[in-house]
Amino acid sequence: MKSFLHVEDIGDLGKALQEARQVKENPFAWKELGKNKTIILIFFNSSLRTRLSSQKAALNLGIDPIVLNVGADSWKLESRLGVVMDGDSSEHLREAIPVIGSYCDIIGVRSFAGLKDREFDYAETILNQFIDYSGKPVISLESATVHPCQAFADLITIEEYKAKVRPKVVMTWAPHPRALPQAVPNSFAEWMNAADVDFVITHPEGYELDPLFVGNAKVEYDQMKALEGADFVYAKNWSCPGTVNPEDYGKVLSKDMDWIVDSKHMAVTNNAYFMHCLPVRRNMIVSDEVIDSPRSIVIPEAANRVVSAQVVMKRMLEEMK
Ligand code: CP
Repeated sequence: MKSFLHVEDIGDLGKALQEARQVKENPFAWKELGKNKTIILIFFNSSLRTRLSSQKAALNLGIDPIVLNVGADSWKLESRLGVVMDGDSSEHLREAIPVIGSYCDIIGVRSFAGLKDREFDYAETILNQFIDYSGKPVISLESATVHPCQAFADLITIEEYKAKVRPKVVMTWAPHPRALPQAVPNSFAEWMNAADVDFVITHPEGYELDPLFVGNAKVEYDQMKALEGADFVYAKNWSCPGTVNPEDYGKVLSKDMDWIVDSKHMAVTNNAYFMHCLPVRRNMIVSDEVIDSPRSIVIPEAANRVVSAQVVMKRMLEEMK
Protein backbone atom coordinates (compact mmCIF):
# COMPACT_ATOMS: atom_id res chain seq x y z
CA MET A 1 0.00 0.00 0.00
CA LYS A 2 1.81 3.11 -1.23
CA SER A 3 -0.70 5.49 0.30
CA PHE A 4 -3.92 5.22 2.32
CA LEU A 5 -6.69 7.60 1.34
CA HIS A 6 -9.52 5.56 -0.14
CA VAL A 7 -11.35 2.31 0.54
CA GLU A 8 -9.80 0.67 -2.53
CA ASP A 9 -6.33 1.19 -1.02
CA ILE A 10 -7.09 -1.49 1.60
CA GLY A 11 -8.13 -4.06 -1.03
CA ASP A 12 -10.61 -6.80 -0.18
CA LEU A 13 -12.76 -5.53 2.72
CA GLY A 14 -13.51 -9.04 4.05
CA LYS A 15 -9.77 -9.73 4.34
CA ALA A 16 -9.13 -6.34 5.94
CA LEU A 17 -11.83 -6.98 8.55
CA GLN A 18 -10.44 -10.44 9.27
CA GLU A 19 -6.99 -8.90 9.74
CA ALA A 20 -8.52 -6.28 12.05
CA ARG A 21 -9.95 -9.08 14.21
CA GLN A 22 -6.52 -10.77 14.38
CA VAL A 23 -4.79 -7.48 15.28
CA LYS A 24 -7.37 -6.76 17.97
CA GLU A 25 -7.04 -10.24 19.49
CA ASN A 26 -3.24 -10.20 19.49
CA PRO A 27 -1.97 -6.62 19.08
CA PHE A 28 1.68 -7.39 19.88
CA ALA A 29 2.08 -10.38 17.54
CA TRP A 30 3.88 -8.25 14.92
CA LYS A 31 6.18 -6.40 17.34
CA GLU A 32 9.29 -7.40 15.34
CA LEU A 33 7.85 -6.15 12.04
CA GLY A 34 8.45 -2.51 12.89
CA LYS A 35 11.87 -2.92 14.49
CA ASN A 36 14.20 -0.07 13.43
CA LYS A 37 11.37 1.59 11.50
CA THR A 38 10.15 5.13 12.14
CA ILE A 39 6.82 6.82 11.43
CA ILE A 40 6.55 10.61 11.41
CA LEU A 41 3.06 11.87 12.24
CA ILE A 42 2.55 15.42 10.98
CA PHE A 43 -0.27 17.52 12.37
CA PHE A 44 -1.29 20.77 10.70
CA ASN A 45 -4.45 20.66 12.90
CA SER A 46 -5.53 19.59 16.38
CA SER A 47 -6.26 15.98 17.29
CA LEU A 48 -6.84 13.73 20.28
CA ARG A 49 -7.82 10.31 18.90
CA THR A 50 -5.77 10.29 15.70
CA ARG A 51 -2.63 11.53 17.43
CA LEU A 52 -2.82 8.94 20.25
CA SER A 53 -4.22 5.96 18.32
CA SER A 54 -1.60 6.34 15.57
CA GLN A 55 1.21 6.39 18.12
CA LYS A 56 -0.28 3.40 19.99
CA ALA A 57 -0.67 1.44 16.74
CA ALA A 58 2.96 2.19 15.83
CA LEU A 59 4.21 1.14 19.28
CA ASN A 60 2.21 -2.13 19.08
CA LEU A 61 4.09 -2.91 15.84
CA GLY A 62 7.50 -1.95 17.23
CA ILE A 63 7.68 1.23 15.10
CA ASP A 64 9.20 4.38 16.66
CA PRO A 65 6.71 7.26 16.28
CA ILE A 66 7.73 10.92 16.03
CA VAL A 67 5.02 13.61 16.17
CA LEU A 68 5.47 17.01 14.52
CA ASN A 69 2.98 19.83 15.13
CA VAL A 70 3.46 22.14 12.16
CA GLY A 71 3.79 25.77 13.16
CA ALA A 72 4.16 25.02 16.88
CA ASP A 73 7.15 22.61 16.65
CA SER A 74 8.39 23.57 13.18
CA TRP A 75 8.59 26.49 10.81
CA LYS A 76 5.28 27.53 9.33
CA LEU A 77 5.09 25.70 6.00
CA GLU A 78 3.91 27.08 2.65
CA SER A 79 1.78 24.71 0.57
CA ARG A 80 0.93 26.80 -2.51
CA LEU A 81 3.20 26.44 -5.51
CA GLY A 82 4.60 29.45 -7.37
CA VAL A 83 3.94 32.02 -4.63
CA VAL A 84 6.32 34.76 -3.45
CA MET A 85 7.05 33.69 0.12
CA ASP A 86 6.95 37.13 1.70
CA GLY A 87 4.36 36.18 4.37
CA ASP A 88 4.40 34.12 7.60
CA SER A 89 5.69 30.85 6.12
CA SER A 90 9.45 30.33 6.39
CA GLU A 91 9.73 27.02 4.52
CA HIS A 92 7.97 25.38 1.57
CA LEU A 93 6.59 21.86 1.61
CA ARG A 94 8.73 21.27 -1.49
CA GLU A 95 11.85 21.17 0.73
CA ALA A 96 10.29 20.15 4.06
CA ILE A 97 8.65 16.98 2.70
CA PRO A 98 11.76 15.30 1.22
CA VAL A 99 13.65 16.21 4.40
CA ILE A 100 10.93 14.56 6.53
CA GLY A 101 10.95 11.58 4.15
CA SER A 102 14.69 11.12 4.69
CA TYR A 103 14.11 10.67 8.45
CA CYS A 104 11.44 7.95 8.39
CA ASP A 105 9.84 4.92 6.72
CA ILE A 106 6.13 5.92 6.85
CA ILE A 107 4.47 9.35 7.04
CA GLY A 108 1.03 10.20 8.45
CA VAL A 109 -0.46 13.61 7.69
CA ARG A 110 -3.36 15.54 9.19
CA SER A 111 -4.18 18.53 6.99
CA PHE A 112 -7.79 19.74 7.14
CA ALA A 113 -9.61 21.45 4.32
CA GLY A 114 -9.23 25.24 4.42
CA LEU A 115 -12.89 25.47 3.25
CA LYS A 116 -12.07 28.60 1.19
CA ASP A 117 -10.99 27.12 -2.15
CA ARG A 118 -12.87 23.97 -3.16
CA GLU A 119 -10.50 23.19 -6.02
CA PHE A 120 -7.43 23.38 -3.74
CA ASP A 121 -9.10 21.22 -1.08
CA TYR A 122 -10.64 18.60 -3.39
CA ALA A 123 -7.31 18.20 -5.24
CA GLU A 124 -5.83 17.13 -1.85
CA THR A 125 -3.09 19.66 -2.63
CA ILE A 126 -1.20 19.22 0.65
CA LEU A 127 -1.47 15.43 1.04
CA ASN A 128 -0.56 14.86 -2.61
CA GLN A 129 2.64 16.85 -2.17
CA PHE A 130 3.61 14.43 0.62
CA ILE A 131 2.84 11.50 -1.70
CA ASP A 132 4.79 13.07 -4.58
CA TYR A 133 7.86 14.40 -2.75
CA SER A 134 8.48 12.14 0.28
CA GLY A 135 9.31 8.85 -1.43
CA LYS A 136 7.58 7.11 1.49
CA PRO A 137 4.14 5.52 2.06
CA VAL A 138 1.68 8.19 3.25
CA ILE A 139 -1.39 7.75 5.48
CA SER A 140 -4.15 10.37 5.52
CA LEU A 141 -4.85 11.13 9.18
CA GLU A 142 -7.77 13.27 7.95
CA SER A 143 -6.78 15.33 5.00
CA ALA A 144 -8.86 17.81 3.04
CA THR A 145 -11.46 15.37 1.71
CA VAL A 146 -11.01 12.01 3.45
CA HIS A 147 -10.51 10.39 6.87
CA PRO A 148 -9.93 6.74 5.98
CA CYS A 149 -8.55 5.56 9.37
CA GLN A 150 -11.82 6.78 10.93
CA ALA A 151 -14.03 5.14 8.31
CA PHE A 152 -12.16 1.83 8.61
CA ALA A 153 -12.58 1.96 12.42
CA ASP A 154 -16.29 2.74 11.92
CA LEU A 155 -16.69 -0.30 9.67
CA ILE A 156 -14.84 -2.53 12.17
CA THR A 157 -17.24 -1.29 14.88
CA ILE A 158 -20.35 -1.94 12.78
CA GLU A 159 -19.08 -5.46 12.05
CA GLU A 160 -18.64 -6.08 15.78
CA TYR A 161 -22.10 -4.83 16.79
CA LYS A 162 -24.34 -5.79 13.89
CA ALA A 163 -27.10 -8.30 14.65
CA LYS A 164 -28.04 -9.01 11.03
CA VAL A 165 -26.04 -9.74 7.89
CA ARG A 166 -27.03 -6.49 6.15
CA PRO A 167 -27.82 -3.78 8.72
CA LYS A 168 -29.40 -0.45 7.88
CA VAL A 169 -26.85 2.32 8.47
CA VAL A 170 -28.03 5.95 8.40
CA MET A 171 -25.59 8.86 8.29
CA THR A 172 -27.38 11.99 9.42
CA TRP A 173 -26.19 15.59 9.25
CA ALA A 174 -26.59 17.36 12.61
CA PRO A 175 -26.17 21.01 13.62
CA HIS A 176 -22.89 22.61 14.73
CA PRO A 177 -21.97 26.24 15.40
CA ARG A 178 -18.86 26.20 13.17
CA ALA A 179 -18.00 25.23 9.60
CA LEU A 180 -16.55 21.70 9.59
CA PRO A 181 -14.87 19.82 6.71
CA GLN A 182 -16.55 17.04 4.71
CA ALA A 183 -13.73 14.51 5.15
CA VAL A 184 -15.49 12.28 7.72
CA PRO A 185 -18.85 12.04 5.91
CA ASN A 186 -17.07 11.61 2.56
CA SER A 187 -15.03 8.66 3.81
CA PHE A 188 -17.89 7.14 5.79
CA ALA A 189 -20.05 7.21 2.64
CA GLU A 190 -17.26 5.74 0.53
CA TRP A 191 -16.64 2.87 2.97
CA MET A 192 -20.34 2.12 3.59
CA ASN A 193 -20.93 1.97 -0.16
CA ALA A 194 -18.20 -0.66 -0.37
CA ALA A 195 -19.53 -2.65 2.60
CA ASP A 196 -22.51 -5.01 2.77
CA VAL A 197 -24.94 -2.56 4.42
CA ASP A 198 -28.17 -0.78 3.50
CA PHE A 199 -26.80 2.77 3.51
CA VAL A 200 -28.87 5.97 3.68
CA ILE A 201 -27.65 9.59 3.92
CA THR A 202 -29.89 12.33 5.28
CA HIS A 203 -29.20 16.08 5.41
CA PRO A 204 -30.92 19.41 4.77
CA GLU A 205 -31.05 20.57 1.16
CA GLY A 206 -27.82 22.32 0.13
CA TYR A 207 -25.56 19.87 1.99
CA GLU A 208 -25.22 17.37 -0.88
CA LEU A 209 -21.86 15.60 -0.66
CA ASP A 210 -19.65 15.18 -3.71
CA PRO A 211 -21.13 12.48 -6.01
CA LEU A 212 -17.74 10.76 -5.99
CA PHE A 213 -18.41 9.80 -2.37
CA VAL A 214 -22.22 9.49 -2.39
CA GLY A 215 -22.01 6.83 -5.10
CA ASN A 216 -25.17 4.74 -5.14
CA ALA A 217 -26.19 5.60 -1.58
CA LYS A 218 -29.82 6.55 -1.01
CA VAL A 219 -30.22 10.25 -0.11
CA GLU A 220 -33.38 11.03 1.90
CA TYR A 221 -34.07 14.67 2.86
CA ASP A 222 -36.71 13.70 5.44
CA GLN A 223 -34.56 12.84 8.47
CA MET A 224 -37.27 10.97 10.41
CA LYS A 225 -38.14 8.88 7.35
CA ALA A 226 -34.44 8.10 6.81
CA LEU A 227 -34.02 6.97 10.42
CA GLU A 228 -36.97 4.55 10.37
CA GLY A 229 -35.74 1.03 11.10
CA ALA A 230 -32.07 2.05 11.29
CA ASP A 231 -29.72 -0.37 13.04
CA PHE A 232 -26.92 2.20 13.26
CA VAL A 233 -27.21 6.01 13.39
CA TYR A 234 -24.01 7.81 12.42
CA ALA A 235 -24.26 11.52 13.26
CA LYS A 236 -21.95 14.12 11.78
CA ASN A 237 -21.96 17.77 10.91
CA TRP A 238 -20.39 19.05 7.72
CA SER A 239 -20.28 22.42 6.02
CA CYS A 240 -21.69 23.05 2.55
CA PRO A 241 -19.74 20.91 0.05
CA GLY A 242 -20.53 23.40 -2.75
CA THR A 243 -21.79 20.70 -5.11
CA VAL A 244 -25.02 22.62 -5.89
CA ASN A 245 -23.79 26.22 -5.45
CA PRO A 246 -19.96 26.42 -5.58
CA GLU A 247 -20.04 29.89 -3.98
CA ASP A 248 -21.51 28.30 -0.81
CA TYR A 249 -18.50 25.97 -0.36
CA GLY A 250 -17.49 25.77 3.30
CA LYS A 251 -20.44 27.80 4.57
CA VAL A 252 -22.82 26.97 7.42
CA LEU A 253 -26.22 26.99 5.68
CA SER A 254 -28.28 25.68 8.58
CA LYS A 255 -28.18 25.42 12.36
CA ASP A 256 -31.63 23.82 12.51
CA MET A 257 -31.80 22.19 15.94
CA ASP A 258 -34.59 19.86 14.74
CA TRP A 259 -31.73 17.81 13.22
CA ILE A 260 -30.13 17.01 16.61
CA VAL A 261 -30.08 13.27 17.30
CA ASP A 262 -32.24 12.92 20.40
CA SER A 263 -34.60 10.33 21.87
CA LYS A 264 -37.41 11.36 19.50
CA HIS A 265 -35.19 10.51 16.53
CA MET A 266 -33.83 7.30 18.04
CA ALA A 267 -37.40 6.13 18.83
CA VAL A 268 -38.16 5.46 15.14
CA THR A 269 -35.04 3.32 14.67
CA ASN A 270 -34.63 -0.41 15.23
CA ASN A 271 -33.17 0.29 18.70
CA ALA A 272 -30.15 1.60 16.79
CA TYR A 273 -26.64 1.99 18.02
CA PHE A 274 -25.46 5.61 18.08
CA MET A 275 -22.10 6.41 16.48
CA HIS A 276 -19.99 9.56 16.12
CA CYS A 277 -16.31 9.94 15.27
CA LEU A 278 -15.74 12.41 18.17
CA PRO A 279 -15.08 15.10 19.24
CA VAL A 280 -18.79 15.80 19.54
CA ARG A 281 -20.70 18.84 20.75
CA ARG A 282 -23.27 17.57 23.26
CA ASN A 283 -26.78 18.95 22.89
CA MET A 284 -25.89 20.31 19.42
CA ILE A 285 -25.17 17.11 17.47
CA VAL A 286 -26.58 14.64 20.00
CA SER A 287 -28.55 14.93 23.23
CA ASP A 288 -26.98 13.84 26.51
CA GLU A 289 -29.53 11.05 26.92
CA VAL A 290 -28.62 9.48 23.56
CA ILE A 291 -24.84 9.67 23.89
CA ASP A 292 -25.03 8.48 27.50
CA SER A 293 -27.42 5.62 26.68
CA PRO A 294 -26.38 1.94 26.56
CA ARG A 295 -26.88 2.06 22.75
CA SER A 296 -24.11 4.64 22.32
CA ILE A 297 -20.94 2.96 21.02
CA VAL A 298 -18.79 6.06 20.55
CA ILE A 299 -16.08 4.81 22.97
CA PRO A 300 -15.53 1.35 21.41
CA GLU A 301 -15.68 3.13 18.02
CA ALA A 302 -12.82 5.42 19.10
CA ALA A 303 -10.90 2.45 20.58
CA ASN A 304 -11.02 0.78 17.16
CA ARG A 305 -8.95 3.66 15.77
CA VAL A 306 -5.88 1.81 17.10
CA VAL A 307 -6.94 -1.33 15.22
CA SER A 308 -7.56 0.39 11.89
CA ALA A 309 -4.27 2.31 12.08
CA GLN A 310 -2.38 -0.82 13.02
CA VAL A 311 -3.74 -2.82 10.07
CA VAL A 312 -2.72 -0.04 7.68
CA MET A 313 0.81 0.34 9.13
CA LYS A 314 1.23 -3.46 9.25
CA ARG A 315 0.37 -3.72 5.56
CA MET A 316 2.87 -0.99 4.72
CA LEU A 317 5.61 -2.69 6.74
CA GLU A 318 4.91 -6.06 5.13
CA GLU A 319 5.35 -4.52 1.68
CA MET A 320 8.80 -3.17 2.72
CA LYS A 321 10.16 -6.63 3.54
N1 CP B 1 -12.11 11.29 15.17
C1 CP B 1 -10.94 11.98 15.16
O1 CP B 1 -10.22 12.01 14.15
O2 CP B 1 -10.61 12.55 16.35
P1 CP B 1 -9.43 13.60 16.54
O3 CP B 1 -9.76 14.81 15.68
O4 CP B 1 -9.40 13.92 18.00
O5 CP B 1 -8.14 12.98 16.06
